[in-house]
Amino acid sequence: MRPIQAAYPAARFRRVRRTDALRRLTQEHTLSVNDLIWPVFVRDGDGVTEPVASMPGVNRLSIDNVVRAAERAAGLGIPAICLFPYTDPAKKTEACEEAWNPENLANRAIRAIKAAVPEIAVMTDVALDPYNANGHDGIVRDGVILNDETVEALVRMSLAQAEAGADILGPSDMMDGRIGAMRAALESAGHKDVTIMSYSAKYASAFYGPFRDAVGASGALKGDKKTYQMNAANSDEALRLIERDLREGADMVMVKPGMPYLDICQRVKSTFGVPTYAYQVSGEYAMIKAAAQNGWIDGEKVMLESLMAFRRAGCDGVLTYFAPEVATILGARG
Ligand code: PBG
Repeated sequence: MRPIQAAYPAARFRRVRRTDALRRLTQEHTLSVNDLIWPVFVRDGDGVTEPVASMPGVNRLSIDNVVRAAERAAGLGIPAICLFPYTDPAKKTEACEEAWNPENLANRAIRAIKAAVPEIAVMTDVALDPYNANGHDGIVRDGVILNDETVEALVRMSLAQAEAGADILGPSDMMDGRIGAMRAALESAGHKDVTIMSYSAKYASAFYGPFRDAVGASGALKGDKKTYQMNAANSDEALRLIERDLREGADMVMVKPGMPYLDICQRVKSTFGVPTYAYQVSGEYAMIKAAAQNGWIDGEKVMLESLMAFRRAGCDGVLTYFAPEVATILGARG
């Protein structure tokens, strides 16, 4: 739809930009605390807050501190928190058994948060990389990432997370058929209401660098993830993956990374009209923080502008390391 406009001087577009009141009245999109999902890094120990060097302001937290962070997030009105474990290298194996250990770090953190802050939605990452001796999201044999064997492992992992009380499972592995397999297993195990947010259009991206440091996977990773994550040059393929995941039982879909892939977000939302999310990933966060620390940009304004861009592109929400900072600012504005 194209609105009919008079020509200049009958039409002066600056009229509606003249005052703050008029700008607010004609504003098309909004950013609210309801749009935020906060990714947090969990590690072993007690009372631990360990800074992630490549992500200023982001820490690895022990479970007691993760619970405190979840309380704070809930207090700020953030609807969901997403857990990423930093696993002890001694627990990483080729078969990735730690991934479905009911007592692994992620599952203990889920239970602790759900016991203390039941109102916040807990999202998990379903992928083998934190538990894999070679850093890949799937099981590797003779240098090949095995699809179907990985899906079986992911199903076990999903069931353990659902059992621990996860509200949203986030498969970020990019194997084929995992959504259908997870959905069927959840249904038959009685976890009919567990939601799946599929990392449907996840690109093989250099923007994940700081994250791999944060979860301790960069040292372990052999090679790259191009045989399962998407080619940055592709766009139609993203729509096929989204459609496939929706048919297999995903409730929500995600595009990742975020800012360099806003065109994909827009196509997904306008094509399918389903709950659509973007992941503003570690490298995007790091770039904004680094430039702000150097005094080269106004960090707070750039952060808010970057998040509004996701809303404009049609996203219903954003996974962002800025979540508590943004929520604090939005809360103070009332
Ligand atoms: C791994 C996973 C990654 C991220 C989320 N889940 C990294 C990867 O695929 O290598 C990246 C998040 C970020 O960079 O903030 N399954």
